[in-house]
Amino acid sequence: MNPGLLLAFDDEQAQAAALAAALQIELALVERHRFPDGESRLRLPPKLPEQVLLLRGLHQPNHKLVELLIALPAARALGAAQILLVSPYLAYMRQDMAFTPGEAVSQRHIAALLGSLVDGLITVDPHLHRIQSLDEVMPGKRGVALSAAPLLGAWVAQQVPGALLLGPDEEALQWVAEAGRCHGLDFAVCHKQRLGDREVRVALPALPLAGRAVVLMDDVASTGRTLVEAALAALAAGASSVDVAVTHALFVGDALAQLRAAGVRQVWSSDAVPHETAVVPLAELIAGAVRAF
Ligand code: R5P
Repeated sequence: MNPGLLLAFDDEQAQAAALAAALQIELALVERHRFPDGESRLRLPPKLPEQVLLLRGLHQPNHKLVELLIALPAARALGAAQILLVSPYLAYMRQDMAFTPGEAVSQRHIAALLGSLVDGLITVDPHLHRIQSLDEVMPGKRGVALSAAPLLGAWVAQQVPGALLLGPDEEALQWVAEAGRCHGLDFAVCHKQRLGDREVRVALPALPLAGRAVVLMDDVASTGRTLVEAALAALAAGASSVDVAVTHALFVGDALAQLRAAGVRQVWSSDAVPHETAVVPLAELIAGAVRAF
């Protein structure tokens, strides 16, 4: 795709500027006003080119999804015939099956909803665990899932030579394996049992951790409980240090403080979600996918 404009929201200006610079295209902002009752008023540039790239990360998902529901048809009405959505963090991907009878499979419904409004979607490390690709949940639309794992792996290899990459659950195997193979680092995964939003149990893999510099790697950290439990277990097993590297730094509430209290040394993330821990920029990776789309 050869977009004539990058459209982004005014609260994601830093990522938008980096992506526009990588693509060497113009950047325009969607201005937002929040009414006292919680509704949003959006203002887009009054005339849009035929091909538009729209950047919208979906951390704090619910109000951002509503804004997208308004902005996408509005962009079409203002002249955008083709819209490629870049959502570095794609929310609702972890709800990927009905865990109890009657539970909505949000992954399928949110992906289908977005697919009905855009011509394509680029995202980073979506939580694809029970399906192989985004195409399975975005019928008829192309979805590109990039991975930050090689870039995070490069960062880790530089900061902690000889690190053991440890995924806190089996689902993280895809990320630790990719990062480990790219940069010659050992990798393994734990076994996780989730008992509630903030209650998880993590069992270490059967391998010696004494004296190893462990880096916990996962796609997303939300409450941080998964990483806290894995860090406590690794340190109890004799790990010489525990650092954390994640693609999506949600870190809600006191998650970061809890990680530090558990003995975690450094916390690193990609800039898929704007966060103080972001050290790995993704603009060039995303720009490459836009050019190839
Ligand atoms: C789910 O399996 C994900 O990969 C993460 O491990 C999970 O979402 C982390 O959640 P929390 O930080 O709340 O434990």
